[in-house]
Amino acid sequence: MEFAEVVRRRRMVRRYDGSPVPADALARVLDAASRAPSAGFSQGQSLVCVTDAATRQAIARCCDEPAHRAAGRPPWLSSAPVHLVPCVDEGAYHERYAEADKAASRPPASWEVPFWWVDGGATLMLLLLAAVDEGLDAGFVDIADRAGLRAHLGIPEEVVPLGVVTLGTRHPDERPVGSSQRRSRRDAVHRERWGGDRATGRADPQGRGRLDQWPRGAKSSSTVVSSRPVSTATSRTV
Ligand SMILES: Cc1cc2nc3c(=O)[nH]c(=O)nc-3n(C[C@H](O)[C@H](O)[C@H](O)COP(=O)(O)O)c2cc1C
Repeated sequence: MEFAEVVRRRRMVRRYDGSPVPADALARVLDAASRAPSAGFSQGQSLVCVTDAATRQAIARCCDEPAHRAAGRPPWLSSAPVHLVPCVDEGAYHERYAEADKAASRPPASWEVPFWWVDGGATLMLLLLAAVDEGLDAGFVDIADRAGLRAHLGIPEEVVPLGVVTLGTRHPDERPVGSSQRRSRRDAVHRERWGGDRATGRADPQGRGRLDQWPRGAKSSSTVVSSRPVSTATSRTV
């Protein structure tokens, strides 16, 4: 499948038909996840792959499925034949950045952005996209009882399970939730600088924000000229 098609098709699926995930497809999904980037190549990500039915039921309970069922929602976790639990270990970053070749880098203790969470997100995204590439469906759910899930899966205290990825084939009655309200790229992408001119792709020379927020009488989009060279290469990358 083309990458753009994989991205376009991906959405969270919260109900499965129970059909098994072929072993070779699962192996490729796991392999894709292992290709995730990580800060300093710390490789602090790991994941637990669960197919055992009793363990999946236990995970479903840790994710509050009984309460959701009681509220009239269809089974989600318990209908998925595979659960994947992506995890991150902050300690791996502290160890990596204590190595000699990282002596000139800022240590993780000073990071404004704890990159282990970013890297966990990268692993999650690879899992979700790889599932679609295999013709499968996936979803991601928060863990209500993290201590319970740790105990069931034997996850050590220093490792944080981020959530549960459900993997399988969507149920025929499953319907999308959420994606239809996705905001447009025009609202989420700023060209050249925050609040830059989104209509022309040029930087806003006055720094006054987007064109539709400019006061009456401001220059129209066609007359806005950047005060500094505009890189068309940059403009095309997002
Ligand atoms: C970090 C993260 C946590 C999420 N947690 C939940 C969750 O606990 N329950 C749920 O139903 N969906 C959860 N979602 C799915 C989002 O609701 C979903 O991605 C969003 O509505 C957009 O829909 P789409 O992914 O189908 O395009 C989560 C997504 C992310 C990225």
